[in-house]
Amino acid sequence: MSLLDNLNFSWKRRLPVVRQSQAAECGLACVGMIANYYGHEIDIVSLRRRFSTSLKGATLADVITVAQRLDLTARALRLEVEELSKLKCPCILHWDMNHFVVLKKADQNKITIHDPAKGIRVVPLKEISQSFTGVALELVPTSTFVAKKEKESISMLRLIGSVTGIKSAFAQILILSVSLEFFGILGPFFMQWVMDLVLVSADHSLLTLLGVGFIMISIFQNLISALRSWVTTWFSSLLSVQWTTNICRHLLKLPLSYFESRHVGDILSRFGSVGSIQDTLTSRFISTVLDGIMSLVTLVMLFIYNAKLAWLVIGLLVAYALIRFSSYRSLRQAREDQIISSAKTQSSLLETLRGIQAVKTNNKQNTRLSTYMNYLVDTTNKGVNIQKLNIGYGTLQGLISSVGRVALVWLAANQVMEGNFSAGMLTAFISFSDQFISRASGLINSVIDFRMLRLHGERLADIALSETEPETDSIVVPRKNDGHDSDIVIEGLRFRYAETEPWVIDGINLTIKSGESVAIIGPSGQGKTTLAKVILGLLHPQEGTICVGKHNIAQAGLQQHRERIGCVMQDDILFSGSIADNISFFAEEPDHEKIHRVAQMAQIHNDIMQMPMNYQSLVGDMGSFLSGGQIQRILLARALYRDPEILVLDEATSHLDVNNESLINSAIKTMNITRIIVAHRPETIRSADRIIVLNQGNIQEISDLK
Ligand SMILES: Nc1ncnc2c1ncn2[C@@H]1O[C@H](COP(=O)(O)OP(=O)(O)OP(=O)(O)O)[C@@H](O)[C@H]1O
Ligand SMILES: [Mg+2]
Repeated sequence: MSLLDNLNFSWKRRLPVVRQSQAAECGLACVGMIANYYGHEIDIVSLRRRFSTSLKGATLADVITVAQRLDLTARALRLEVEELSKLKCPCILHWDMNHFVVLKKADQNKITIHDPAKGIRVVPLKEISQSFTGVALELVPTSTFVAKKEKESISMLRLIGSVTGIKSAFAQILILSVSLEFFGILGPFFMQWVMDLVLVSADHSLLTLLGVGFIMISIFQNLISALRSWVTTWFSSLLSVQWTTNICRHLLKLPLSYFESRHVGDILSRFGSVGSIQDTLTSRFISTVLDGIMSLVTLVMLFIYNAKLAWLVIGLLVAYALIRFSSYRSLRQAREDQIISSAKTQSSLLETLRGIQAVKTNNKQNTRLSTYMNYLVDTTNKGVNIQKLNIGYGTLQGLISSVGRVALVWLAANQVMEGNFSAGMLTAFISFSDQFISRASGLINSVIDFRMLRLHGERLADIALSETEPETDSIVVPRKNDGHDSDIVIEGLRFRYAETEPWVIDGINLTIKSGESVAIIGPSGQGKTTLAKVILGLLHPQEGTICVGKHNIAQAGLQQHRERIGCVMQDDILFSGSIADNISFFAEEPDHEKIHRVAQMAQIHNDIMQMPMNYQSLVGDMGSFLSGGQIQRILLARALYRDPEILVLDEATSHLDVNNESLINSAIKTMNITRIIVAHRPETIRSADRIIVLNQGNIQEISDLK
C-alpha cells in the first residue's frame, strides 16, 4: 500500500512552505501546507479567514478540527524518534512543546521539516530528540477531498491603491527612453562605417563627418539619459509618498486584533515592502518594456547579418535563461527567509528598548544581547546564503557568456575569411550580439525580479488586504438633546477571542442609564477589559447588540460611536509632545482654557504648574519624567477634553491616592457623564451608583447602592 501511495503521481506533488504571519498560527500553516500538498491550494490569508485562531495558539485538538474541515482525516500518534521514518509524510510534528512543524522526509539520521516560522530545515538526529515531543499527526485526504484553488489574488494595482500623476510621469520616461534607445542602436554603425568605408578608402573628410556626427549623438544621448534619471527620481518619489500614505491610512484603519496578533517588527518590515516594490516598479518597469523591444530589434539585426551565428547567440541566451529560472525557487526561499529573519531581529531590538527597565532590573542585558545576536547572525547567514547562490549562478553565467563570445568571434572570423562577412560587419555583429545578450538577459532578470516582487506583495498583502474596521457612518446621531440619548443597552452579548476559545462574555444583558455611574468588578482575567473594549467597539461581539441612545453601534458607525466616548484603558500611553498637546490629543487649534479646566478636574493642574515649563513641558514617548499617577491623571484629562457623554475607565485611577481619586470623582460627578468604571479598589467602587460583578462571562450580581 505504501508503495502505491508513493507511486501516486508523487512527482506532481510539492510540499510548499506556508509561513505564519501571526505568532500563534503555526498549526494553521502546517495544515495548510499538507492541504496544498494534496492539491487544495490555499494560502495563509484564506486559511485565517476561514478559521479564526486564538492568540494563545492552537492545541492538537484544534489542529485536528481545522484538518477535518479541510477534508483531511487526522490520526494522532505517539512515537519515539527512531520511528519517525515509519510516518506517512508529510505529517505534522509537535515541536518544542509550543510549536507545530511539517515533517517532509525522515532519513536514517536526519529529518527535513517545513517550519512555518523558520522555513525549510534539515534537523540532525541528536537535535530531534531535544525538540520533538513525541506526538505526531498524520493527515490524509478523505473521499470528499477535492483539489481546488483557494488563494487571495494579489494584484499590484490593488496593493498600490489610487495614486495620481503617474501616467504622465510614465509617458515622459517612456518617450525619453525610446529616444535613448534609438541613439543606442546607431552606435555599432560608427565602427562598421569607420572600418569598412573610411579605412578602406582613406577618406579623411568622411571620418570627420562621422566623428562629429557621432560626438553629437553621444552628447544628446547623455543629456537625455540625465533627464530620464531626473524624471525617474521625481516619479519614484511621487509614487513612494502616495503609496506609503495609502498603506499607512489602511494600516491605521485595521482592527485592534490585527496589531495584537503581530510583532511590531513584523508589521514594520511588511510596511517596508512598499519601498522594495516601488523601487523595482519605478526603476525596472520601463527598462523591462524597452529591453523586450530592444532584444527583438537587435535580434532582427543579428539575423540580417548572419542567421547561423544568430542561432548561436540565441543558444547562449537560452542557457542563461535556464540557469536563471532554475535558480528562482531557491533564491526566493532564501530571500523570504532573510526578510522574516530580519523582521525578527528588529522586533527583538524594539522589545528590548521598550522593556529596558525590566531588562536592567533583572540584570538580563547579556541575555537580551545574545538573543539579539542570535537573530542578527541568523539574518546575516541568510544574507550569505543569498550571496552564495548569486555568486554560484553569476559565475556560471559569466562563464557561458565569455566562452560563448570567444566561440562567436571564432566562427564569425571564419565567415570573414570565407568572404561572407566584412571586418566591419564582424565588429558590428559582435557589438549587436553583446547588446542583444545584455538586453535579453536584462529582460530575463526583470521577469525574475517581478516574480520575486510577489514575495513582497504577499507580505504587504497582509496589511493591504486585511479588512478594515467597518465604516458605516450613515446615521447622524444627535448629541445630548434629551435625557436618554446615551443610555447603553446591552442585549444577549457574547464574545470570545477565537472559535476555539471559551466565551469570555457569555450572554450579558445590561442597561446603563444616561448619567449613571457603574462599577464593573470581578477577579482578574474574567473579562472586564474585554467588556470595556466591546463597548468601545474595539472588539466585535459574535452575538448580541450594544445600543447607545437607541442606535446599534455596529450600524451607527464606530467613528460616531467613539466620538461620544472618552476612555482611559489599562495600558494607554502618552505621545511625544507637550503636556498640552497630549491633553488636547494634538488638536490643530487647542482650546487652552479647556485644557486647564480638564486638568483641574483630573487634579493634575497643580502638578503641571509646578513644572518649569508648565503645560509646555515635553513628554517623551518612552522616557517620560512623569509618575505613574501623573500619567493616569493626564490620560484622564485627555479623555475629558473630548467632552464625552460616556466615560470608560479601566483601572484608570489605580495609581492614585485615595484623596486625589475622590476629588476626581466628585469633579466628574458634576459633569453628568455616564461612567463605566472597571476597578479593584474599594474607594473607587464605592463612588459608583451601581456595582456589577463579572464572573465567568456573566453578570453575577448587581447590587444597587442607593
Ligand atoms: N487578545 C486576546 N486573545 C485571546 N484571549 C485574550 C485576549 N485578551 C484577553 N484574553 C483572555 O480573556 C480573558 C479576559 O481578559 P481581560 O483582559 O478582559 O480580563 P480582566 O477582567 O480585564 O482582567 P484584569 O483584572 O487582570 O485586568 C482572559 O482569560 C484573557 O486571557
Ligand atoms: Mg483588565
